[in-house]
Amino acid sequence: MNFKPRKAKFALVACLIALLAIGAVSIAIVWAASDSRKPDYQGFDLSRPWFDGKEWAWFLDMMDQPSIKPQETGSFQRFPRDSVPRRGVEPVIDAAAIKDGRLLRDLIPPNPTQATPTSLAQGRFLFETYCGVCHGNKGEAGTPVTKKGMPAPPIGAMLGFLSEAHLYNKIRYGGPIMPSYGIQTSQQDRWDMVNYMKSADFGKGGSQ
Ligand code: HEC
Repeated sequence: MNFKPRKAKFALVACLIALLAIGAVSIAIVWAASDSRKPDYQGFDLSRPWFDGKEWAWFLDMMDQPSIKPQETGSFQRFPRDSVPRRGVEPVIDAAAIKDGRLLRDLIPPNPTQATPTSLAQGRFLFETYCGVCHGNKGEAGTPVTKKGMPAPPIGAMLGFLSEAHLYNKIRYGGPIMPSYGIQTSQQDRWDMVNYMKSADFGKGGSQ
């Protein structure tokens, strides 16, 4: 038998220290879990230093931002001025629609504008911007683009026979080959070009 009382004593002390340590850790855990950290204000922990329960605007703003919920009284707001068309949108005119034996596109829309000097000047500027590249600023064709193969006709001689509505719709819708300029131009832009094409000024003193 080699029982040594000193060793046994040492083991006993070590066990006691270990037990004390475990006890201390357990108490610390229980204390931490049971302290005042309970959800208080809308599920938030009030004991945390960065949230003291006051409704700081920058803390809850994602959750409690001022907003109008769907169907809530007052949610029917007026649209900001001029943000929506007030007089409706321009109706699409079918390419083959016939009225009184004539193409609707040759009759409608009627020209609501006057061929004022301003309109003619603007019309010439727009024509030379959009159309001259193919048809020539004097409507004589023979442009670098037609020489490369674009079959744009010399429209100068044709303009007298074409109705104002036809020219307006030609700009708006284009043709089988000619591109449309409905996106690039406003209604006023198109009538300005029509006024110019129909006027005695057409092709006179152009920049070409
Ligand atoms: C990219 C070249 C090109 C441009 C730019 C162009 N056209 Fe044309 N245009 C044509 C071609 C090609 C034709 C014949 C085939 C067709 O109608 O698609 C034509 C035909 C025409 C005709 C005669 C045929 C018809 O149906 O009345 C008119 C008028 C006309 N264009 C006006 C214009 C006006 C106004 C502009 C400017 C907004 C313009 N074009 C811009 C290529 C062009």
